[in-house]
Amino acid sequence: MAEHFAVTGGARLQGSVDVVGAKNSVLKLMAAALLAEGTTTLTNCPEILDVPLMADVLRSLGCGVTVERDTVAIDVPARLGAEADYRSVSKLRASVCVLGPLIARCRRAVVPLPGGDAIGSRPLDMHQAGLQRLGATTEIEHGRVVARGDVLRGAQIWLDFPSVGATENILMAAVLADGTTVIDNAAREPEIVDLAAMLTQMGAKIEGIGTSTLSVHGVTALQPTEHRVIGDRIVGATWAFAAAMTRGEVTVRGVDPHHLDLVLDKLRSAGAETEAGTQEFTVRMDGRPGAIDFVTLPYPGFATDLQPMAIALSAVADGTSMITENVFEARFRFVDEMVRLGADARTDGHHAVVRGVERLSSAPVWASDIRAGAGLVLAGLCAEGVTQVWDVEHIDRGYPRFVENLQGLGADVERVLTDPL
Ligand code: EPU
Repeated sequence: MAEHFAVTGGARLQGSVDVVGAKNSVLKLMAAALLAEGTTTLTNCPEILDVPLMADVLRSLGCGVTVERDTVAIDVPARLGAEADYRSVSKLRASVCVLGPLIARCRRAVVPLPGGDAIGSRPLDMHQAGLQRLGATTEIEHGRVVARGDVLRGAQIWLDFPSVGATENILMAAVLADGTTVIDNAAREPEIVDLAAMLTQMGAKIEGIGTSTLSVHGVTALQPTEHRVIGDRIVGATWAFAAAMTRGEVTVRGVDPHHLDLVLDKLRSAGAETEAGTQEFTVRMDGRPGAIDFVTLPYPGFATDLQPMAIALSAVADGTSMITENVFEARFRFVDEMVRLGADARTDGHHAVVRGVERLSSAPVWASDIRAGAGLVLAGLCAEGVTQVWDVEHIDRGYPRFVENLQGLGADVERVLTDPL
């Protein structure tokens, strides 16, 4: 038996939806807890599978972890294990972010390589180069990154590309290094700001938070803390696109609208009206969206995680859109699924050209990753008939209560358990 979402197109989404903490923040914050002995508590955590999976990774390092609804408590022992368990890490790519905290705390870290996935290759060369600048040695042995560094010393580090994961790992190693580390061309996603804010609460000394130059003055020890995870801007933006595509009106609560300045501006260019408050915003669209171009880039550019939503909107927009993907080369693979739904879309290297059609037509489609899955559901909302979206376990990893939230906004969507197609 397998689950799929049965999406009946045609409804106009209306109402309000609450968004909880960001997946791409909570997993890093859980890793950051390793930096201080004692109990760190995180609230506003999303109830998604990745959280218990990350809890298993931390348990394999000797921590006690409890996950109760939206609260995760991590009890970190004085002596941590330095070797992350292969089985736990292999189920969760983000678990590579234990590398920085482990080398900082244990002066040694062994973390299985996460490998590539459906959105493209995901090497760790920048993570390794950064740790090497701090004085660690890193090698790949038997499919694992093995890092050693008896003494970590502050250094100047220039990243080739503002990688989210590399910035996080280097930052988490640098907070306990001797002296000052400067990370230039650092990523500055809101989730990195959230991580830096929690590290600061723990006693870390970080300057330049939210900019592309982070200066970290190493301290000898950090203290455990309590921290509320920031709202998930990618989930929030997914609802914004859903409102615009279905010509609806949706208020999204629990997300800082400034994290979506560019997204909301794009939607206004497509014809939507938007209103922003504190930790909430509303998107309303009366007619058919107009075609607009999108270029994915590190924050504050348009997020690659929203590229499938951009393609879905373009597929039903009035006119032709060009979408350029600059972050994950294989993310356009999902466009073939959009074509099954009647989208007039072609890709060539980094670019996709999408000619909008009045209405898509339902078909069975397969989600290859979290965001592709969400994009296909949005397309299904604008398709005639019942679209079956398969491999929904991907969607469940990033969107807590997705079906219930869609139903709450008036969409005709159900989770169905049947024999697979
Ligand atoms: N890269 C390298 N070498 C490195 C690190 C990255 O070449 O050492 C390349 C990657 O291959 C990619 C680009 O740099 O082409 C950007 O990768 P980045 O390191 O910024 O991404 P990440 O940390 O692996 C996080 C999110 C992704 C999100 C990206 C970009 C988490 C757990 N994942 O990945 O989220 O797309 O940043 O914003 O935080 C998702 O949530 O669906 C998702 C894939």
